[in-house]
Amino acid sequence: MKTLIISSSLSPESKSFILCKKTYEKLIEKGIEVEMIDAREMDLIPCHKTPSEGMNLLTRKVDLADNIIIGMGVHCYSINDGLKIILDNCFAKSVGKFFGIICAAGGDRSYLSTQHLTQICMNEWRMIQLPRIIYASGNDFEENNIKNKNLLERIDVFSEEFHSIGKKLIS
Ligand SMILES: Cc1cc2nc3c(=O)[nH]c(=O)nc-3n(C[C@H](O)[C@H](O)[C@H](O)COP(=O)(O)O)c2cc1C
Repeated sequence: MKTLIISSSLSPESKSFILCKKTYEKLIEKGIEVEMIDAREMDLIPCHKTPSEGMNLLTRKVDLADNIIIGMGVHCYSINDGLKIILDNCFAKSVGKFFGIICAAGGDRSYLSTQHLTQICMNEWRMIQLPRIIYASGNDFEENNIKNKNLLERIDVFSEEFHSIGKKLIS
């Protein structure tokens, strides 16, 4: 199975990127063909303007992937700006694909913010979500390392379930 991880935060100290990277390593250990995209390395151009080469490439990668893991930061109880550009411009070929959400927030109480991503993916492209989210807050990190052992366990479980269910959904 081909898994694409999109880390969509543009923050130079992105915590969702750290979570995506950890999940990438877990999936590699399982022998999965997995590629990780870091939005910080792309030029993100808003809708109605000419997309960048990196965005065209991501559109093709979304098309070729069997399933997708999306990393997001919470901005104003919703998805981060970079992710909105990616969804609006690069997800046309994501129809029906299985997906998972990885989320970093400042506080513990913004966990429902991922619902906006769920709504977009399910309503716009009939994507199917793994019913488990990796959610972390600022307290789970120390000097850009994951310090919460429970969070590491949740990344393990997420990776295992994404792998086993994702595999079953490929015909
Ligand atoms: C514009 C903006 C809005 C934010 N809004 C929220 C919010 O509503 N709830 C929250 O818990 N954290 C909020 N935060 C904090 C971020 O979610 C936090 O910094 C998180 O680490 C972002 O993910 P990232 O590090 O991968 O970019 C906000 C940060 C920014 C820059």
